[in-house]
Amino acid sequence: MPVKPTIEKSDARTVPADKWSSYWAGNRVAACMQAADGNYDQVIGRHWRDYFARLPADSRILDLATGNGAVLHFALDSAQRHDTGWQMYGVDLASIDPWSHLDRTQLPQLTLRFLPNINIETLPFAARMFDAVVSQYGVEYADWRRSIPEALRVLRRGGNLNWICHCDTSSVYANTVREISDARYLLEQAAVTQHLRQLINVQTDGDQFIPDSHQATLRTPQRQAMVQALQGCFMRLREAPRHSEILDVALQNLAYIYQHREAHTPALVNAKIDEIYAELKFFIERLEALVESAVTAADLDLITALLTANGMLDIQSTQVRKPDGVIVGLQITARKPTD
Ligand SMILES: C[S@@+](CC[C@H](N)C(=O)[O-])C[C@H]1O[C@@H](n2cnc3c(N)ncnc32)[C@H](O)[C@@H]1O
Repeated sequence: MPVKPTIEKSDARTVPADKWSSYWAGNRVAACMQAADGNYDQVIGRHWRDYFARLPADSRILDLATGNGAVLHFALDSAQRHDTGWQMYGVDLASIDPWSHLDRTQLPQLTLRFLPNINIETLPFAARMFDAVVSQYGVEYADWRRSIPEALRVLRRGGNLNWICHCDTSSVYANTVREISDARYLLEQAAVTQHLRQLINVQTDGDQFIPDSHQATLRTPQRQAMVQALQGCFMRLREAPRHSEILDVALQNLAYIYQHREAHTPALVNAKIDEIYAELKFFIERLEALVESAVTAADLDLITALLTANGMLDIQSTQVRKPDGVIVGLQITARKPTD
């Protein structure tokens, strides 16, 4: 269901200045579920539950590029069921604050720490501190040449790593490529926010809307251009192989803002349009980062070479598939020797 915006003053907030911090501030638990289809989250959930069920009770776990702690949510679930004393750490480059979405009183016996603004290429931990270094759609965003030696430095002897990464053969990747193209169409070719601003401009006199501006601009080229831009976008989204909720909601919101503009000042309406524009720009940046970081065959060769050169054993890469066979990621696992 599209979210109907109320164009109140408090709503015209400033969007945080980076693509992931603004995303995680929105009480999301996991990224990328949008770009997937069907029971993708169930496949990943089962993977983590199986993995955590086998971890010893006194393990220290590090989640790389944790976001709002999606993997640690699965770990918490397992920890509570198996009565473990795990210590869990999640680090991320973004200004994350997952505790603002969690209830501390529900998690008394567990150590769970989130560290924001940490690049996984230089971790703030002592050597050999962790029994498990995990990641879900995160580790691949950094430079493998730096992140792998760093992850292995903090892994204790006999410890293991377990990473699920985006890969260029997955359905998530294909959906993301299409979604980038649709989002770019909306902002650049159809230029829907630009047309809306131009229309607002011709309906404004000083800091107020011209009374009955609907009538006043009914037959203007600005109105025609805006209506055409919106229609073009809605049609394009309808033809997309997969429903893009974010783009759909953005368009619905822009249309809603226009319809209800006269109840507000032009400045407030323009601020709301700017906010939607900024959010769509961040959305495109996040999707482009996913496509750029997705593991290719050449990346996999590099990863394997780096793990081997650093003495890791049992190096394995396995495609993660939904029951219908669709690929949703690549799992990379390895073990550090005990001596
Ligand atoms: C697709 S999200 C995945 C987050 C989380 N693991 C999940 O499954 O929901 C990718 C995350 O990688 C983080 N990230 C990107 N580059 C990073 C780096 N060099 N060091 C630490 N985190 C990074 C981003 O801030 C973002 O939160």
